[in-house]
Amino acid sequence: MHVNLYEKIWMYAAAGIIVVFLAAMGYTTVGRAMQPPSHVETIDPASVRTDEEFGSPGVTLHEDGTATVVIQAFMFAFLPLEIRVPRGRDITFRMTSPDVIHGFQIVQTNGNTMVVPGYVSQFTTRFDRAGEYLIVCNEYCGVGHHVMSATLIVEDMPGPSGSSGDATGSSDGTEEPLGGTSGSSDGEEGSPAGTGASPAAPEGDR
Ligand code: CUA
Repeated sequence: MHVNLYEKIWMYAAAGIIVVFLAAMGYTTVGRAMQPPSHVETIDPASVRTDEEFGSPGVTLHEDGTATVVIQAFMFAFLPLEIRVPRGRDITFRMTSPDVIHGFQIVQTNGNTMVVPGYVSQFTTRFDRAGEYLIVCNEYCGVGHHVMSATLIVEDMPGPSGSSGDATGSSDGTEEPLGGTSGSSDGEEGSPAGTGASPAAPEGDR
């Protein structure tokens, strides 16, 4: 069958574009650790504020050095407003909304998820750079959307059972609790994407 030259060029170009798109998706998924929320956990939105877990949001530090952060995202704020977590350890964020869909994005990191009423959104990541990070809602949720923000403070904390030597022994063990450069584990699962950027998130950028 004879195929016109221009027809051929368009066919190959279309096929090429599809390959590029698939490769980009594969790269962001594997190389940049972009994943959909890992599990489906439901919750009655009407009971969020009285829920045993989400009714009293906050940070829980575990014995192995990791931490769990429970967050309520609602019109138009996050609770808690200020979140303090240890540097270089696995931090699991769990959040839900009692009203409408919100976003939860930790600026300059790969921490970013939708918060959908009726569901618990969860992801685990770690922060290699100490400092202050801005958390913003990135799903339009109403007239106060633009003021919906919170602060994440990443700081060095003493390791489990008082020793800082084996702080990350339970995870991949490659991260020293003190020192270490931010770019070293870029692209590892769950590590923030920032490489050499300044530690402080731009506060005024809302
Ligand atoms: Cu919450 Cu926009």
